[in-house]
Amino acid sequence: MITIFAIESSCDETAAAICQDGKILSNVIATQKIHEQYGGVVPELASRAHLQNIVPVVEAAFKQAGCKPQEVDAIAFTEAPGLIGALLVGSTFAKSMALALNKPIIGVHHMQAHVLANLIPEDRPTFPFLCLTVSGGHTQIVQCDSPTQLKVLGETIDDAAGEAFDKTAKMLGLPYPGGPLIDKYAQLGQPIYTFPEPRIAGLNFSFSGLKTSILYFLQNAGSSNVFKESFTATAEERKAFIAGNLENICASVQHRIVSILLNKLQLAVAQTGINSVCLAGGVSANSGLRAAFTALGKAKQWQTFIPAFEFCTDNAAMIAMTGYHKFKAGLIDDLSITPMARANW
Ligand code: KG4
Ligand code: ZN
Repeated sequence: MITIFAIESSCDETAAAICQDGKILSNVIATQKIHEQYGGVVPELASRAHLQNIVPVVEAAFKQAGCKPQEVDAIAFTEAPGLIGALLVGSTFAKSMALALNKPIIGVHHMQAHVLANLIPEDRPTFPFLCLTVSGGHTQIVQCDSPTQLKVLGETIDDAAGEAFDKTAKMLGLPYPGGPLIDKYAQLGQPIYTFPEPRIAGLNFSFSGLKTSILYFLQNAGSSNVFKESFTATAEERKAFIAGNLENICASVQHRIVSILLNKLQLAVAQTGINSVCLAGGVSANSGLRAAFTALGKAKQWQTFIPAFEFCTDNAAMIAMTGYHKFKAGLIDDLSITPMARANW
């Protein structure tokens, strides 16, 4: 029996989980509400909130699992990428525990963990599989040959898909994080506005052009589908346009983001011949993406997988699952390991 305890603290969720032989026994998350009023995550406030949350979250994870710290085989934590102050809280806590309990430590790459969240449910993909990982900080298509052999086939060259959702929401005057709100309003509207699709070579993505076109579109109060910097509308006209068309604007933006993502995913399947396909990351909670992904998979006869909502957004269960597979593969670190804000895997 292999029992792994894990901590996730890369951004604004403080999380702890326990995985035993590939089964998640507990998964506890404290979401930091403090950032809402600032319209985005404030790194220093995130670090402080992690410090406040980490002890109760860790205690709850052990309690929920009915297991004691001495019983774990290794301690895993998010090593990279993320906010460095936030990562330091989790890594220091994990290293202290490892030292005090004399247990091995395992650093986990956050993006690998998002992919391996697909191994949590009983119905899991067989290897090799492709994974479209879409989060607030990343957009990647990853080929996963085994739990410890992953390669990035394509990724964003500028903004992430989640940022495209969040920045659009900000332009529409919606609070952070705006992705779930765009999703909510999009369900009530129709994609009647056509935003341009970027032409980026291969399997890479770009969302910054879309962001600019949305900005110009709103500044013109929708009076033109030509996305030029010609601000014809007054501030009142813009406000009234957004208020009167919020649902259709959200549906149109979401439609375009989803089509950008799924067109590249189709290309990846065509290029690799792998038709076992997964979603991962916070944006995979988006109802439009989930529905379009499932429909596309059905039409193309792919096998499709989407983790449960709680394993799509940041969580420690995915870190524990990755820690479990790294432990089995003998991929163990020592206490000299330090977190990094950015890192390839
Ligand atoms: O994976 P995640 O929890 O954190 C990062 O690692 O970044 O992803 C957070 C992102 C945010 O940009 C948030 O707006 C987006 O996921 N998100 C959504 C939805 N739920 C979360 N975007 C669109 N629709 C949703 N329902
Ligand atoms: Zn994440």
